[in-house]
Amino acid sequence: MNTQDKEKAVVAGMAPLTAQVIASFAATSDARLRCLLGALVRHLHEFVRAVELSDEEWRRAIEFLTAAGRCSQGGRQELVLLSDVLGLSTLLVRQNHAVPLGATEATVMGPFYLPDVTRFSLGDDIANGAPGTPCTVSGMVRDVAGSPLANATVEVWQADGTGHYDVQLNEGQRNRGVLQADEAGAFNFRTVVAEPYPVPTDGPVGDLLRSTGRSAWRPGHLHVRISAVGYETLTTHVFRHGDPYLESDAVFGVRNSLIAAWQPQSDGTYALHFDFVLSGQRNG
Ligand code: BEZ
Ligand code: FE
Repeated sequence: MNTQDKEKAVVAGMAPLTAQVIASFAATSDARLRCLLGALVRHLHEFVRAVELSDEEWRRAIEFLTAAGRCSQGGRQELVLLSDVLGLSTLLVRQNHAVPLGATEATVMGPFYLPDVTRFSLGDDIANGAPGTPCTVSGMVRDVAGSPLANATVEVWQADGTGHYDVQLNEGQRNRGVLQADEAGAFNFRTVVAEPYPVPTDGPVGDLLRSTGRSAWRPGHLHVRISAVGYETLTTHVFRHGDPYLESDAVFGVRNSLIAAWQPQSDGTYALHFDFVLSGQRNG
């Protein structure tokens, strides 16, 4: 069955109003847009019927979305945060960035990534004075066949020992940077241990979490984005083994394969070693 026949078959069994609204988009020449709008209308109508949505509930929903839009200014994106806490961001990552067996799984990017940040040399301290327990991070970048990805670009960013990102504190760049793996695909740097933190709760999404008794906390994690010519760029986290929020991550980003132990060292610091495997789907 081609797309148009499928659309006709779906409309055939539908309530007249829903079918009428979907038909109003029939002249949309972009077939994908027509498909998206048709499915959106169908699911929205189904939702309203299924829950018997009241006028008052719809008014409150519009109020909520309006407040989320108003709150989305500058670096703040409340609607992305809404997508995060509803699990939509994670669903999209899982659907669109599935990797072959053996490759490192992806997870959400989050709002605190910055492009074009300071480049560091291997072994450098990226903390730039940020508070926290010192640690070293090391790892290898490989492909699924086990071959090292020489000179892979490794971008890292994380919260400090108080659970804050530099962009939330306006104290300059801390706990983030770009490194280049060596010829053997190895990288290492110094930083502080990333502590858990709550997603922003001073907007409508915070109200939603509070009124539903949900936790706003994310388990401690290191964000990593790794790129190498010819490989799909990997955006992921490394989570801390034993973190109390692993089971209740506010944005559902945890994957078991991404949990690792920060090993305590005799001098009171910690060391993390984590290897990343990029999927070989060509990116150009
Ligand atoms: C983060 O991990 O940085 C993040 C992800 C989603 C919402 C808020 C923060
Ligand atoms: Fe984060």
